[in-house]
Amino acid sequence: ERPALIDGFGRTVTYLRVSVTDRCDLRCVYCMAEKMTFLPKAEVLTLEELDRIASAFVGLGVRKLRLSGGEPLVRKGFMSLVEGLSRHLRSGALDELTLTTNGTRLAQFAPDLARFGVKRINVSLDTLNPHLFARLTRGGNLTQVVSGIDAAQAAGIAIKINTVALAQDNAAELPALIQWAHGRGCDITLIETMPLGEIEADRTDQFLSLTEVRQELSSYWTLTDLPLTTGGPARYVRVEETGGRLGLITPLSHNFCEACNRVRLTCTGTLHSCLGREDASDLRAVIRAGADDADLVAAIRAAVDAKPQGHDFQIGRTAVGRHMSTTGG
Ligand code: GTP
Ligand code: 5AD
Ligand code: SF4
Repeated sequence: ERPALIDGFGRTVTYLRVSVTDRCDLRCVYCMAEKMTFLPKAEVLTLEELDRIASAFVGLGVRKLRLSGGEPLVRKGFMSLVEGLSRHLRSGALDELTLTTNGTRLAQFAPDLARFGVKRINVSLDTLNPHLFARLTRGGNLTQVVSGIDAAQAAGIAIKINTVALAQDNAAELPALIQWAHGRGCDITLIETMPLGEIEADRTDQFLSLTEVRQELSSYWTLTDLPLTTGGPARYVRVEETGGRLGLITPLSHNFCEACNRVRLTCTGTLHSCLGREDASDLRAVIRAGADDADLVAAIRAAVDAKPQGHDFQIGRTAVGRHMSTTGG
């Protein structure tokens, strides 16, 4: 029997998100600033260190690991990390090993991901218009991402599309994106843009309330609430007309912190107990000081115990200094 990780508000942490790199081959306008300084290698955890910390969480009752970035597939040796962590799937300690990716390198890596037990992947995609895609990602190629999604589906991996709702860019296209995703047998989740890190664009102008989008969609579609939960923040509905599932992530228009079950590890070994707070524990310092496993567990427990009650996102005010690309969402 493993002692669970329970925070000061009685919430059990069963989900760890691990950002394996702050780097990305895209540069989405809501995620990164135009000029970003990336971390020097010495600051970044080695693959062995990432495995050690993630595995300590598994030993403490974490049942779901999500690897993210930046873009996880640009990290050298990423597949060996996945291969190593897949032992926790085989032992039954972990229910799910998954990733959130921009999809640009999926065509190359999908078969190996499937082989290592990855069953479901979230792919970020905000538009089907190649010109708008290039502008939003600052240079990305839409065809590459769609080929990546094809390859993952061909390898038997289920895909969920993540779409950040942007009032000025893709608001009018959201129904078409939903139909496209459902037509390919993918779930799709819409996400309210969150104020992390300074960017060039004005987030107030871009903010689109998904509570309002939902109302509008239900003027021409039948949306049925689903009891489904993936352990993430999305609330799902079925679109009866397409037969597909639509998730809504509404941190600003409807906060869901009371059911929060996750913490985040950055590629520098910083544990953030809340996405929307500055709270941080330096696990890299702990392990690089030669900590044994009991010391590491004690540091993790202390951080979880101090997990804040909730975020403090407000439209038009940057909640935390770090960009989304350092915590991977
Ligand atoms: P599944 O439910 O497993 O499909 O994944 P997920 O939605 O938890 O993860 P994903 O990486 O696809 O993230 C989707 C969006 O949810 C991103 O914009 C994340 O920043 C956001 N998100 C995930 N967890 C939290 C959270 O605890 N709080 C807030 N505010 N946003 C979150
Ligand atoms: N607000 C909301 N979602 C964001 N993402 C990146 N930056 C933001 C932001 N500021 C999304 C990405 C990806 C997920 C991990 O987070 O599109 O799908
Ligand atoms: Fe890269 Fe994802 Fe951030 Fe876009 S949202 S810049 S794809 S990390």
